[in-house]
Amino acid sequence: MSLNSAVITAVAGYVPDYKLTNAELETMVDTNDEWIVSRTGIRERRILKGEKGTSDMCVPVVEELIRKSGYKKEEIDMVICGTVTPDITVADTANTICEKAGLTNAYGYDINAACSGFLFSLFTGVQFIRAGTYKKVIVIGADKMSSIINYKDRSTCVIFGDGAGGVLLEPGDEDLGVKDAVLKGDGSGRELLYIKTRGSKYPLTHESIDNGDHFVRQDGRPVFKAAVKGMTSAIKELLEKSNMSLEDVDWLVPHQANMRIIDAVSDHLSFPKEKVMINIHKYGNTTAGTIPLCLWDWEKKLKKGDNVVLTSFGGGFTWGAILVKWAY
Ligand code: UT7
Repeated sequence: MSLNSAVITAVAGYVPDYKLTNAELETMVDTNDEWIVSRTGIRERRILKGEKGTSDMCVPVVEELIRKSGYKKEEIDMVICGTVTPDITVADTANTICEKAGLTNAYGYDINAACSGFLFSLFTGVQFIRAGTYKKVIVIGADKMSSIINYKDRSTCVIFGDGAGGVLLEPGDEDLGVKDAVLKGDGSGRELLYIKTRGSKYPLTHESIDNGDHFVRQDGRPVFKAAVKGMTSAIKELLEKSNMSLEDVDWLVPHQANMRIIDAVSDHLSFPKEKVMINIHKYGNTTAGTIPLCLWDWEKKLKKGDNVVLTSFGGGFTWGAILVKWAY
């Protein structure tokens, strides 16, 4: 049986209006603009205010994809949402998105792979298209990180922001679309970047809340090193598998966790900086949102046939790289 090619036919993004600047963070924790910019490259990040959840950022993403594609809402088969910040714990965000966006014939589910959430979700969606099970799959990466960040912890609160991005996947030209993937996991790194409670092992208690165990904790330095190593090796493995060299790559789209990590990956690969998509300065680390938000911001630069390598590293640990031949 021959498999369909799974092609990205539209990209969309959404960021909340509120800008949390480095200057405002200076009033909240013992930090300063010089430290944040030189250590991370981040100048501001967006925050979703009010009683709103991750799905509220995803609905505008779906609406933009519908508008761009020209399809009717009822034609969408499935929504996969990479997120670690579901609206509520039981009841996945993807089905909430379907319901709120009026995708009456779609169902979906969430994938929890932290900062690799979009890549893992994308490759899951690809399987449904390749197998011919579905014809129109929306893949979203979205996180409301402000809901799980401790704004008294300067080592994490300066890094993260809220945002959502997504793509429409459809069967298409066999020369185009998602070509290959290298996706990896290593559970031994889970306590270097995690939330201790809120799960089944350590349910919330008054004591755990007082201790701040319901917020993200990160041991930055080992995660930094593992991120550089993981993304660099995943890209190399992907290119080898695809019989390609770095010269064949038109765009590198790295997870936006830290500008120094992005620079280190491109330096290790001797990959030209002008071909690396960057938007960390304005959104910070939106976890599953960073890669689709980059594609959204840089969409006009992309040309049909471009070889685009997406790469991520995140909590879990999870990491990987995906090769996409851009279709429009
Ligand atoms: O997205 C998922 C994967 N996550 C990542 O890839 C993130 C990986 N890690 C990082 O990006 C970096 O490790 C951080 C941005 C988190 C931290 O940068 P760093 O250069 O590794 O700093 P550090 O943790 O080694 O801390 C250096 C110093 C410390 O002070 P002392 O002990 O040297 O006196 C920190 O207390 O910087 C201090 N520090 C700060 N100072 C001002 C930590 N955060 C801040 C801050 N403002 N916001």
